[in-house]
Amino acid sequence: LVVGHEPGGPRFSQYACQRRTTTDNYNVVFTDAFEVLAECYEFNQMDGRCLAFRRAASVLKSLPRGLSSLEETHSLPCLGGHAKAIIGVGSSPKVLSDERYQTLKLFTSVFGVGPKTAEKWYRSGLRSLDHILADQSIQLNHMQQNGFLHYGDISRAVSKAEARALTKAIGETVQAITPDALLALTGGFRRGKEFGHDVDIIFTTLELGMEENLLLAVIKSLEKQGILLYCDYQASTFDLTKLPTHSFEAMDHFAKCFLILRLEASQVEEGLNSPVEDIRGWRAVRVDLVSPPVDRYAFALLGWTGSRQFERDLRRFARKERRMLLDNHGLYDKTKEEFLAAGTEKDIFDHLGLEYMEPWQRNA
Ligand code: CTP
Ligand code: MN
Ligand code: MN
Ligand code: MN
Repeated sequence: LVVGHEPGGPRFSQYACQRRTTTDNYNVVFTDAFEVLAECYEFNQMDGRCLAFRRAASVLKSLPRGLSSLEETHSLPCLGGHAKAIIGVGSSPKVLSDERYQTLKLFTSVFGVGPKTAEKWYRSGLRSLDHILADQSIQLNHMQQNGFLHYGDISRAVSKAEARALTKAIGETVQAITPDALLALTGGFRRGKEFGHDVDIIFTTLELGMEENLLLAVIKSLEKQGILLYCDYQASTFDLTKLPTHSFEAMDHFAKCFLILRLEASQVEEGLNSPVEDIRGWRAVRVDLVSPPVDRYAFALLGWTGSRQFERDLRRFARKERRMLLDNHGLYDKTKEEFLAAGTEKDIFDHLGLEYMEPWQRNA
C-alpha cells in the first residue's frame, strides 16, 4: 500500500472529517475486531481505550484496499500498539466468547436498555432475555416493554427499500399538514448504507417557530393512521443563547421523537426484508424524527447524518484546529466571539476550512 498525499490535504489525517470514507470497507476483519473491543471497553467504562479502538477502526475504513502487511500500518495515524498487535496476529478478539460481553451485548440490543441497566441485570445473575421477562422483581419502563414486545422485528435490519417507503409515508404526512416543509432521510441511509437499525428523518417548517407544532401534528396523524406502535416524544429544550456543548455524547435539544412504526408489506416495492414478516404482511420499524428550527436545519442535518465517528472528529477538529465549537445546534467562533450562520452543510465545512465531504463519504 502506497500512502500518498493528495493535493489539498493529508490523505491520512488523524481527523475522520478529513478522510473520505465510503461504505466500501476493505478491512472489515480488523475493523470488526476493533469495534468489538471498543464496545467491550465501553461496557467496562474505559472511555479512553474505547475511543482509541473506534479511531483505529475508522482509519482502516478509509483505506482504498485491504492491509496486506503490518508494515503498511506504520504511516497510518491512530493505530496504537494494541491495535497493531491485533493486525499482526490477525485473530478475532477473545472477548467475543466472553460471557459478560455476550450478555451485555444481548441486553443492550433491546430498545430502551442501555449499558447501565444491562450491567445491573448481569450483576443480579440474569443471562438471557427470557430470564428478564420471567423475573417478577424487574420493573421494565414503557420503552423497554415495547423493546421486548417488538424485539424480533426491530432487531432485524431495515432495508433501504423499507427506509424509502417510510420516508415517503412521513413525507406525505408532513405534506398534508404543511406544504411548506423541508424533509430529508438522514442517518446511515443518507450515507448510502444498504441496511440500518432504524430510519432517521429530519424535517422543519419554513416558518421559524412552527417546527415543534409540525412534529406534534405528525405524531397525531401517525396515530390516526393506525401505524404508531410506540412514541417517546421529547419536547424542545433549545436555548439559542447557549454555546455549543463540549460533550459530544449529549443529545441535542431539538424537538424529536423515538418511534416504533408499523410498515405494511404493500408499501414496499421489493417487499419486506424478512420472509416471515412478509407473509404476516407488516413489520415494526424503529424511526427517529427530529424537527429543528429552520435556521438550524443545516447543523442538525449534518449532526444527524453521522457517522458518529465523523461527527466526533468534526467537533474535535473545530475545537483543536479552529478554536470553534460545533454541535447539532450551531457553530461558535471563540476568536471572533460570535456564532457563524449556515444555510447548507457546505457553509459549515467552509466556515471550518474543510473540503466538503458528501454524505456517502462520511462513513468513518
Ligand atoms: N444522533 C444525534 N442525536 C440523537 C440521536 C442520534 O445527534 N439524539 C446522531 C448520531 O450521532 C448519528 C446520527 O444521528 O450520527 C444517526 O444515529 P443512528 O441512527 O444511531 O446511527 P446511524 O448512523 O443511522 O446507523 P444505523 O444504521 O445503525 O441506524
Ligand atoms: Mn473506503
Ligand atoms: Mn440510524
Ligand atoms: Mn437513529
